[in-house]
Amino acid sequence: MTDSAALRRSAFPADFRWGVSTSSFQIEGAGREDGRGESIWDRFCSEPGRIRDGSNGLVACDHYHLWPQDLDMARALGVNAYRFSIAWPRILPNGRGPVNEAGLAFYDRLVDGMLERGLDPWATLYHWDLPQALQDRGGWTSRDTVAAFLEYTDVVTRRLGDRVKHWITHNEPWCSCMMSYWEGVHAPGGRSLPDALQACHHVLLSHGQAIPLIRRNSAGADVGITLSLHPIAPASSRDEDAAAVRRHDGLRNRWFLDPLFGRGYPQDTLALLGAAAPRVEPGDLDAIATATDFLGVNYYFPEVVRDDPAGGPMGTALVEREGVERTAFGWEVSPQGLVELLTRIQRDYAPAVIQLTENGSTFEDVLTADGRVHDAQRLSYLQRHLAALKQAIDAGVPVKGYFAWSLLDNFEWAEGYLRRFGLAYVDYATQRRILKDSGLWYGRFLNE
Ligand code: FCB
Repeated sequence: MTDSAALRRSAFPADFRWGVSTSSFQIEGAGREDGRGESIWDRFCSEPGRIRDGSNGLVACDHYHLWPQDLDMARALGVNAYRFSIAWPRILPNGRGPVNEAGLAFYDRLVDGMLERGLDPWATLYHWDLPQALQDRGGWTSRDTVAAFLEYTDVVTRRLGDRVKHWITHNEPWCSCMMSYWEGVHAPGGRSLPDALQACHHVLLSHGQAIPLIRRNSAGADVGITLSLHPIAPASSRDEDAAAVRRHDGLRNRWFLDPLFGRGYPQDTLALLGAAAPRVEPGDLDAIATATDFLGVNYYFPEVVRDDPAGGPMGTALVEREGVERTAFGWEVSPQGLVELLTRIQRDYAPAVIQLTENGSTFEDVLTADGRVHDAQRLSYLQRHLAALKQAIDAGVPVKGYFAWSLLDNFEWAEGYLRRFGLAYVDYATQRRILKDSGLWYGRFLNE
């Protein structure tokens, strides 16, 4: 058992990537500046009742203007990698067609700013801000959006591919499809399972088809995709609950991992989905299975399920374990879950490289009279997850990098600004950034 507080950076491999993670819509603001088009999240925010605090991303952390100080802060923390995403509506305001030079110029400056500070740029092409013009034509449910994504990817990687050498095609297809086209909680707020599954298929297809394009435009680059994955436990020792775990895992995890690793969609899950299953054309599964250089994993929490014949297409229900530690979001805190998840991925899929592209927590942060944020719970979460990561590495899982979510408090999607995940606190009234105790610790850990 590692004493997590005593953990040293030197216990990790010397070439380990230490990073922070961000995304465009959540931090940039400048929603109507320099020719940026409308995204599905702008539209969603404008619809009453969608965002819990009624907010939007028009200003957010104003990172569009304050990026030099944000990158300075990242450098001071001692990270050597910086994960950000590119806003498609800044580059192609109508989704396709005319390119907005001012949008490309912004990311040019940002990437140069990273390189000047010794931060290796890790760019995500799609972190959920689809141009609204494409949504008006069906969004990800339409196969044409795959071609639009390739057009966008080509423009971006031609421009930045000489300097950006790590590309993530998509962030968390579960969220950009299931939560967005089925559960109705993320933009565009759809409520159809068949739509969501079709959207997922197109997202995965666009990932696979983009890989050769990125490699052509960005010589020697590493390309991957980031999934949100969960270890899943049964609510009891009953056989029914064990079977429920398998079914839940089919849609939650294997639905994405299996096709990416060349196995096609899981047969047991397809059987349960019946007519809701996506239309797949010849060659699609081969494209989705195009080899990548790494698998990006975002880990936040484990899930516990029980058998529930009335519980949706998989016949399962989520159960809240009693008496466990939780974040302010209600997410169970389980560093051990990270070890379980990583060893499972390794056992079942054996990717050559795993990057932990997000991990973090939200708590009720308070800026105290001493001008500090004493976020002891987040600090402990961070330390214990790093200790868990070390345990997984020691067990032979090829994790090569860790990116804390997030550098800054930011727009937390349907929760607006109510949830703070940053290592730095953002005072939205003044846009002042204040490193929390967790951020100060991460900095000490990295700079030891
Ligand atoms: C992940 C998202 C990220 C952020 C964190 C808390 O699902 O990728 O943008 O919202 O959750």
